[in-house]
Amino acid sequence: VTAEKNGFDHFMLKEIHEQPKAYRDTIRGRVDESGRKVVLKDLNLTEDRIKQIQNVHIVACGTAYHAGLVGGTVIEQLVRVPVYNDVASEYRYRSPLITPETLVIVVSQSGETADTLAALREAKSNGAHVLAVTNVVGSSIARDADDVLVTLAGPEIAVASTKAYSSQLIAFYLLGLYLAQVRGTQSEDQVAHMISAIQALPEQVESMLENSDAIKAYAEQISHNQHLFFIGRGLDYAVAQEGSLKLKEISYIHSEAYAAGELKHGTLALIEDGIPVIALATQDSVLEKTVSNIKEVKARGADVMVITHEEHVASLLKSVDQAFAIPKTLPLFTPALSVVPLQLLSYYASLALGHDVDKPRNLAKSVTVE
Ligand code: G6P
Repeated sequence: VTAEKNGFDHFMLKEIHEQPKAYRDTIRGRVDESGRKVVLKDLNLTEDRIKQIQNVHIVACGTAYHAGLVGGTVIEQLVRVPVYNDVASEYRYRSPLITPETLVIVVSQSGETADTLAALREAKSNGAHVLAVTNVVGSSIARDADDVLVTLAGPEIAVASTKAYSSQLIAFYLLGLYLAQVRGTQSEDQVAHMISAIQALPEQVESMLENSDAIKAYAEQISHNQHLFFIGRGLDYAVAQEGSLKLKEISYIHSEAYAAGELKHGTLALIEDGIPVIALATQDSVLEKTVSNIKEVKARGADVMVITHEEHVASLLKSVDQAFAIPKTLPLFTPALSVVPLQLLSYYASLALGHDVDKPRNLAKSVTVE
């Protein structure tokens, strides 16, 4: 077993460290030689049909749902088409408004999740084109979908998903750019600029993985708490939800992810002395807004850790207790970086508490029954 773990203590840590490779493998062959165009050769979705898309539904469970939240924002921003995200167990029973002009994207690491498969069938029977983002080529979901965009993360063993999630983000970036190219919603130069930012992500993840001591120390510190909060706006909120889920899954610490601006509508009542709040502040367009939310929780005694870009660390340290810097990328792509410290946080918190990191209680890697 040690050999399979490649010298890592757990599959989860190994898989966290495999992310640069997973990103590279997922990008490879999907950018043309000039580096200016995304090519998704195998898609059955024709250019005509892409031009006819009126709305996009993104449906999944668990961590894959969280990847879909990022994907939804990416597609909405790049393609300017309305996107609707849902968890598969809700979607399948609500008679969703699906037409042949709906593109339904199902996201599933295993390709075997029962609710996601049922959602796919519901969408198909209503005439939608269904595209599956999955890590397993021969899976039930891959077989039933009209199109498959494979993530090349390699087998994921740990129950808590890491490299599958982040590779799903890469798949959404490429898909978003491809749809934008076909519909002409981004210029060639903009697409080229974004492609080069995506290509830089693997190395940026490597640099973060080389500096994980501070996050380990912070994880040990918060592992003694029973409750904590994650806050953020926009894509930071989407990543906060994934960070919170990861922590719950393997450390059993209760946490909630909140849209930072929504705090004052209830959750602020729970903030008291010493409660850890992890704030994601990577989106420059809403940075000032997030900072004012950070000040609100600070004023009520919270112990705030912020994840942001290097350039904001010095000024943010005036309002927070600790800061972790992530490398600079374009706003849409920060989730592929900011999730890494959150993965390490939950890993080291679980480890500090002596839990079975790779096999958390009550959870299964793949949920093939409803
Ligand atoms: C289970 C796993 C999660 C996963 C979810 C969806 O709950 O424990 O890690 O996110 O299923 O799985 P899928 O294979 O469809 O991505």
